[in-house]
Amino acid sequence: MRILSGIQPTGSIHIGAYLGAIKQWTDLQGMGECIFFIADLHALTIPQNPGNFQKQVLQTAAELLAAGLNPEKCIIFAQSQVKEHTELAWYLNTITPLGELERMTQFKDKAKQFKQNINAGLLNYPVLQAADILLYQTESVPVGKDQVQHLELTKTIARKFNQKYGETFKVPEALTLDLGAKIMSLSDPEKKMSKSMPETCLFLFDEPEVIKKKIMSAVTDLGKTIKYDPVKKPGVANLLTIFSLFDGKPIKEIENNFKGKGYAELKKQLVNLLVLKLEPFRRKKKELLSREVYLKEILEQGRKRAAIIAQSTMDAVRQKMGLL
Ligand code: TYM
Repeated sequence: MRILSGIQPTGSIHIGAYLGAIKQWTDLQGMGECIFFIADLHALTIPQNPGNFQKQVLQTAAELLAAGLNPEKCIIFAQSQVKEHTELAWYLNTITPLGELERMTQFKDKAKQFKQNINAGLLNYPVLQAADILLYQTESVPVGKDQVQHLELTKTIARKFNQKYGETFKVPEALTLDLGAKIMSLSDPEKKMSKSMPETCLFLFDEPEVIKKKIMSAVTDLGKTIKYDPVKKPGVANLLTIFSLFDGKPIKEIENNFKGKGYAELKKQLVNLLVLKLEPFRRKKKELLSREVYLKEILEQGRKRAAIIAQSTMDAVRQKMGLL
C-alpha cells in the first residue's frame, strides 16, 4: 500500500497538525510504502521571505524527524525538488472545472484573509495537491479533516483523467482519525487550531513555561463537570481530546479520573503531561537544527527515490495525452 502526505513549511508544527496528521504518519511507517514531503510550492501561494525560505524548509524537515519520521522507513523530500509535481499540475489544470476550485472552503477562507494577494496559485492550489498525490499512484492519504475536501476533488480529477485518457491513476482515499482529525484553537474552541493564528496554537516545540501559559489560559466553558461534549462543551472536549491522544488512554477513562475535579485540575495535569511528552521532541529538534548537512542529505536521498516513481508515472501520462 502506498501512503503519501505533505505539510507546508509555514512556521513551526503545532499540536493540531501533529495529532491530526503527523502522528498518523509516524504510526504508518513500515506498514506500507510511505512518502512524506514538505509542500514548499504550496507555501508560495502566501507571501514568503525568499531570504529565509530555505531555512524554513530545513526547519520543517528537522521538526518532522524530531516528531518521529524515520528516513529509513519513509521517503522525505521537498516538493519543489521533484519537477514532475508542477508538470502534472499543469496537465490536471486542463481537466479541472473552474467552478470546483472556486467552491473550495480553503480558497474562500484564504481569499478573505489575504485580500491584497488573491493570486491564481491560491485558486489552483488543490490541483497541485492532486498532482502531488496522483503522481505517486497513492492509495492512502493521512490528513486532518480540513484536507478532506481537497481529497474529494483529487478523486474527481483522477476519475476524470482516467475516463478521458484511459486508466492511468489510482483513485486515493483520505485517512482521517476518529479522534484528533480537527484539533480546535485554545482561545476559540469553535475554530480549528491554525498556523494563521499562532498566538492560539500550541506548538510541538514550545518550552514548558509557554505550554503552561497557553493551556492554563485555554478557553473552557460554563459549568464544572469534566465531560466530553463537543457541542455543549467544545473547550473541555478539545482539552480531553489532546489529553487522550498524548496519554494513549480512552476519553471515558480520563473523564472518570477527573470525576469531582474542576477544570483547573484538568489543565494542570494536561500541562504536566505535555511538558513530559514533548520534552524529547524539543531535545531532538535542537540537535537536528545544528546538523544542516545531514538534513540536506536526507532531503536529497528522498528526492532521488521520489523522482524515480514520479518519472515513471509521467512517462505514462505524457504518452496517454499524446505528447512528444
Ligand atoms: P498543512 O500544512 O496546513 O497541515 C498539515 C497537516 O496537518 C493537518 N492539520 C490538522 N489536523 C487536525 N487539527 C488541526 N487543527 C489541524 N491543522 C492542520 C492538515 O489537515 C494536514 O494534514 N494542503 C496541505 C499540504 C499538502 C498535502 C498534499 C497534503 C500539499 N500537498 C498532498 C496531503 C497530500 C496543507 O496545507 O497542510
